[in-house]
Amino acid sequence: MSQSTHKPSRDGFTSSFGVLAATLGSAVGLGNIWKFPYLTGANGGAGFLMVYILATLVVGLPVMIAEITLGRHVKANPVTALIALSPARQPWWLIGAAGMVASFLIMSFYSEVVAWVFAYVFKAIGGSILSSDRKVTEAAFGALISDPLQSLLWQWLVLIGMGGILLLGVSKGIEALTKKLMPLLFLLLLLLCAVSLSLDKAADGLAFLFNPDFGKVTGTVVLTALGLAFFKLSIGMGTMMTYGSYFRDDQNIPVTTFRVMSADLCVSLLAGVAIFPAVFTFDFAPAAGPALVFITIPAVFSQIPMGQALMVVFFVLAAVAATGAMLSLMEVPVLILHERFRLARPKAVMLTLVLLAVTGSTCALTNSTLADFKVFGLNMFDLFDFLSSNVILPAGGIFVALFVGWVWGFDKFRSVLSNHEQLQNEGLARVVFFLLRYISPLLILIVMLKGLHLF
Ligand code: PHE
Repeated sequence: MSQSTHKPSRDGFTSSFGVLAATLGSAVGLGNIWKFPYLTGANGGAGFLMVYILATLVVGLPVMIAEITLGRHVKANPVTALIALSPARQPWWLIGAAGMVASFLIMSFYSEVVAWVFAYVFKAIGGSILSSDRKVTEAAFGALISDPLQSLLWQWLVLIGMGGILLLGVSKGIEALTKKLMPLLFLLLLLLCAVSLSLDKAADGLAFLFNPDFGKVTGTVVLTALGLAFFKLSIGMGTMMTYGSYFRDDQNIPVTTFRVMSADLCVSLLAGVAIFPAVFTFDFAPAAGPALVFITIPAVFSQIPMGQALMVVFFVLAAVAATGAMLSLMEVPVLILHERFRLARPKAVMLTLVLLAVTGSTCALTNSTLADFKVFGLNMFDLFDFLSSNVILPAGGIFVALFVGWVWGFDKFRSVLSNHEQLQNEGLARVVFFLLRYISPLLILIVMLKGLHLF
């Protein structure tokens, strides 16, 4: 089926809601629960939030629209799509190749955090991490991440699970599952928000998240906000181009992207509202990254009525969010291997899993066997995180914008964006195109250079 030169009818999303659920499933992930709340609180609350929203609107949305439009037009993986659209001998396909590298870098550390989340669902059910003493929860987390065998095992279990879903295909796997998971995610999140807001010091938690402190917004912080915008919307690395290639022809791209962006922002804000009021009520310091989710949260929940059940809810929620994102990350190399290198889909999934087991283990072992292995002073986990969010994704964004703005051109862009109907979305297409051609690439470049202290 995969080998024919005539394109067999290609798998893709079948319903409008399916498109929305799968795309939102990619955007919503650990980024909302693990990166967004802390970065916002630590980098100036509302000040950071405003920069983040601005970066999302001025840079993120146009690049997301560009990727989806390109993908849907060619209906192929990012490498093939860019080769098909580029003038001879112009290597724009490298954007797709860099995207494949980025997807492996991200998945390597991401799958480890997902592994901890799944392990914690079971630990929460078993009750072993339920303690109000932060030392106990810290020791429990330490025991998990510093045990090489457990870390690897959970990571490989997660990878095999995701691979199994991908084997079912795009419509029967990704779409069918995310259609069920996304509504569930909102339900669980609202439940947790209601509980958190009813606690004593809810106002302090909200103040941490929302009080503006513009003094904290430096060049590096702006780069962080931009990197977060890219990471959140899954752009700059071919994921949205890949998903765009599964979009239906009658899908309204601007409306869908806007809905995805808004719903994703909503999930991030709700996650912050679910987490910080509880953290402040029990006088915990709002710790960074993994510590917040895996050490503070269990200690907080142990003090709330029905805490154990709610903690299970929290980790199931995180697992649900992470699953849609993981699937979309893995689909990038799978589709490239399948279409470009003509591997049958099951083989493409297998090869991706094997490669990931290797690259991923460097992250799984950062707290044990490879603790002292550092490059630029960073362990593999932090290095992959930094390189992908702050370098590859923004750089990918620059080139996607330049490609559409200067190579593909306005007429084709407008025509695909408006589903080939004359005069539809004309004004909007002009604005987005202008941003892509002039503003987004320049802005990303300046922020990158400044944030990386290159000028
Ligand atoms: N958007 C996902 C999150 O916030 C992460 C992701 C990045 C997924 C890039 C796909 C591609 O967790």
